[in-house]
Amino acid sequence: MVEETRSGSRKSRVVSETEPPERLGEVDGSHHRVLTTGVGEFDRVLGGGLVAGAATLVGGPPGIGKSTLLLQAAAGLARRHGPVLYVSAEESLAQVRQRADRLRAVHEHLWVTAASDLDQIAQQLDQVQPVACIVDSVQTVSDPSIPAAPGSLAQVRDSAQWLVHQARARSAAMVLVGHVTKEGTLAGPRVLEHVVDTVVSFDGDGHHALRMLRVAKHRHGPTGELGVLEMTGRGLIDVADASALFLADRCVEVPGSAVVATIDGDRPLLVELQALVVPSSLPAPRRSAQGVDSSRLSVLLAVLQQRAAVSCGSRDVYVSAAGGARVVEPGADLGLCLAIASSMAGITLPSELVACGEVGLAGELRRPVGIEQRLAEAERVGYRTALVPATVEPGRSSLRLLRAASVTEALDQVLGSSGRRGPVDLVRGSSA
Ligand code: TYD
Ligand code: MG
Repeated sequence: MVEETRSGSRKSRVVSETEPPERLGEVDGSHHRVLTTGVGEFDRVLGGGLVAGAATLVGGPPGIGKSTLLLQAAAGLARRHGPVLYVSAEESLAQVRQRADRLRAVHEHLWVTAASDLDQIAQQLDQVQPVACIVDSVQTVSDPSIPAAPGSLAQVRDSAQWLVHQARARSAAMVLVGHVTKEGTLAGPRVLEHVVDTVVSFDGDGHHALRMLRVAKHRHGPTGELGVLEMTGRGLIDVADASALFLADRCVEVPGSAVVATIDGDRPLLVELQALVVPSSLPAPRRSAQGVDSSRLSVLLAVLQQRAAVSCGSRDVYVSAAGGARVVEPGADLGLCLAIASSMAGITLPSELVACGEVGLAGELRRPVGIEQRLAEAERVGYRTALVPATVEPGRSSLRLLRAASVTEALDQVLGSSGRRGPVDLVRGSSA
């Protein structure tokens, strides 16, 4: 239960004086000014940059690099567009300075404050008149007129509403940083998603240097873009060729490794999926999935057993997406099946082969969305053969296409019939 309080002073701050209605035709609908931040991938997912007068929420788990990203963006904005106010309500100014030195983010137009109280922030906004304001984080700022603790639902929502209003009133780009736990905390960014104009999630596997930016809601541009960044000793850098990075340490001579052409948002990516199937000593064998949906793994194991006579029944199955990638779309199904069967049979897959296809419960292969983009990416990275569903037309790609109607047929094509134990029920020729 969360106590909520409504105070008069808050209302007067949030609600502007009443205005008469306007004819829609007379409303100024010209595009808002877009402010580039200079962090290439951040600008790209935003469709150019931050929008003046709009509020953007950047949510992510603690320690992922939100403050790093936004300090870099703040410096870029200051360099390009003028005064920027960075409200560091979590860290001391000395800490921010240390980080800025490391990131080379010190600039005469970049102003910082450690204020966490909205009245103080209002004064600072008046003084600096920034083109952009970054509030790190929205969970630590508070309205002193509300008797609730900072970080509580009432405070977070109230502060966010006030900050969004400030962005509109001052035509400044406002960025709110919010922490999310894996479940999405109660008083966290989830409750703010409808208040702001843009919601960006910043994510990644804490053990790897790769970070992903995704736009979940965007009132000024497209959603679904994926940005890939790498955390280095000198801050975040853009990763233009994410496929190359995911495949960098691939070990081709070991069974159980398959490369899939996947798609994340609108961005095609090549990712290595690995499987390790070992005899189990447990009554209920283990199923472990990293970077892969574990319920999807269960479904595919059942399909392999029932439709392709590849039974992992008494074996432990470990699968993972290499390099901290996260592959949760069905286009990777076929690759996952290949990796599992390859590990089971102890036969390596052809090293220049890339797989893409969705596997149905009947064991049939289905065409995934964006097949052209996936194949184009595979071609660009230098792959020569692609294993795809039979419904995929040869098209213009110079890849050699191996087409299969079912997962059984696919396994037979690349692993030979010894790749499966059990009856061979479908042995149809392949087409080039
Ligand atoms: P931080 O931006 O503080 O994360 P958040 O604001 O999301 O909590 O950064 C988190 C980690 O990033 C921190 O453990 C150290 C690392 N880091 C680098 O690897 N390189 C850098 O240049 C910086 C500034 C941080
Ligand atoms: Mg931080």
